[in-house]
Amino acid sequence: MTELLGMRGITKTFPGVKALSDVNLSVRRGEIHAICGENGAGKSTLMKVLSGVYPHGSYDGEITFDGQRCEFGSVRDSERRGIVIIHQELALCGQLSIAENIFLGNEQAKRGWIDWNRTNHEAGALLKRVGLAENATRAVQELGVGKQQLVEIAKALSKEVKLLILDEPTAALNDDDSAHLLDLLRGLRDEGVTCVIISHKLGEVTAIADTVTILRDGKTIETLDAAGLTEERIITGMVGRDLEHRFPPREPSIGEEVLRIEDWTVHSPTQAGRVVVDHASLSLRRGEIVGLAGLMGAGRTELAMSVFGRSWGKDISGRILKHGEEIEVRSVQDAVRHGIAYATEDRKRYGLNLIEDIQRNVSAAGLGKLAKRGWVNEHAEHDTANSYRRDLRIKAPSVQSVTGKLSGGNQQKVVLAKWIFTDPDVLILDEPTRGIDVGAKFEIYTIINELAAQGKAVLVISSELPELLGLCDRIYALSAGRITGEAKREEATQELLMQYMTKERE
Ligand SMILES: Nc1ncnc2c1ncn2[C@@H]1O[C@H](COP(=O)(O)OP(=O)(O)OP(=O)(O)O)[C@@H](O)[C@H]1O
Ligand SMILES: [Mg+2]
Repeated sequence: MTELLGMRGITKTFPGVKALSDVNLSVRRGEIHAICGENGAGKSTLMKVLSGVYPHGSYDGEITFDGQRCEFGSVRDSERRGIVIIHQELALCGQLSIAENIFLGNEQAKRGWIDWNRTNHEAGALLKRVGLAENATRAVQELGVGKQQLVEIAKALSKEVKLLILDEPTAALNDDDSAHLLDLLRGLRDEGVTCVIISHKLGEVTAIADTVTILRDGKTIETLDAAGLTEERIITGMVGRDLEHRFPPREPSIGEEVLRIEDWTVHSPTQAGRVVVDHASLSLRRGEIVGLAGLMGAGRTELAMSVFGRSWGKDISGRILKHGEEIEVRSVQDAVRHGIAYATEDRKRYGLNLIEDIQRNVSAAGLGKLAKRGWVNEHAEHDTANSYRRDLRIKAPSVQSVTGKLSGGNQQKVVLAKWIFTDPDVLILDEPTRGIDVGAKFEIYTIINELAAQGKAVLVISSELPELLGLCDRIYALSAGRITGEAKREEATQELLMQYMTKERE
């Protein structure tokens, strides 16, 4: 196979950070090429250099594509050559429909008028191709992040794509949907589309990639043939040493019940009459790590957000009991006051203020602890943020760094720091390791274990069943808004949970 893409000697610096240093990448025509590396290794930056997000002149080195030297001044330039990138942080317009998003900037027009029939019809065909069973006229903001990802891919397919770049496409997807997506990529490969995929899910990398390039600290470490390649071998390249265990050891010490949710029912704010959470009941105990499993659309995030001060949903009914007594949690302030914290799966929309620095983000939900007579003690704020930066190993030059410029995984750590700082009794973590590399995952599991050891009750929502099995004392499964099963650590298996998660309404 011949080379389709060659990147040679790529060096890219930001103020105070050398993100890429003399990186080489060679992608052959018609292959699926994976790029692996820890958070902050430079993967996204390399792809942004390629796609013209960082224009020619803002980096050193040389790019050849399809036999020609490329000096892209913008994303439009690279798209014109058939390079399409789907970014790690999704970039859809929430108010617009699925179809409108797919053809945004590429409108299906006839004599200056947008042809809506054609737009919706073709969007429908693309949705079928990516396997998304949604009406193309539905607003994107009504979809969960997982489905939005599929819309992004449909959008990419609507263009003449020769090289498709996916920056963590399956991070938000559960196993079934990920498997579906990987099949989709295999199909595209058979049609001659070359693909570069960035993923922290190493099982997927070994399953789908033909070649793997590993970056560490902004440098190319090696390029490996994927035939016979193991996850352990990739990890060794990524972290520069062997990683013996994926989960830190822990001796749970579980106490009395802290939080109980009874008969919790939530309706959709946008679709009249649709029940999203259906008489769900669950309880969390002191020092306990409890998992919440469910397929995409099962209502896990909706359950968590509605409990967290009614941040989602309408016509909410049911009871919340803290230490056996009913509490009123009508707003996020109420929730925080009652010692409930929720770290979101969607850090861009709800979790972080990306234009602020790390320090402000960490202190945002717990300002009361830093203020005296209405004034925030900036010294204390700085020290607090700094200690989290150290403990959570947030990779940034300082706590004054703007969060929007951190790598995805490091942004996630800032979200965690923000909610840990409120010192809650109950911490709900929604996909806490999404987009996080194996080494940092271990660190985050360690943090979760420590929080439990301090006596907090932790509820972990995760689409990765091995993560729930490795971390939790007890796991609930949610299907179509109902709790369909519960399993203790000893009895939980992937098969059992899947059975619960796919249980239909009787
Ligand atoms: N716009 C920017 N300004 C300043 N620094 C940046 C910017 N973008 C990235 N960086 C820094 O460059 C380095 C590489 O970041 P990059 O986003 O490429 O990492 P990554 O490998 O994609 O990580 P992740 O797996 O977490 O997504 C990081 O140290 C990051 O903080
Ligand atoms: Mg990245």
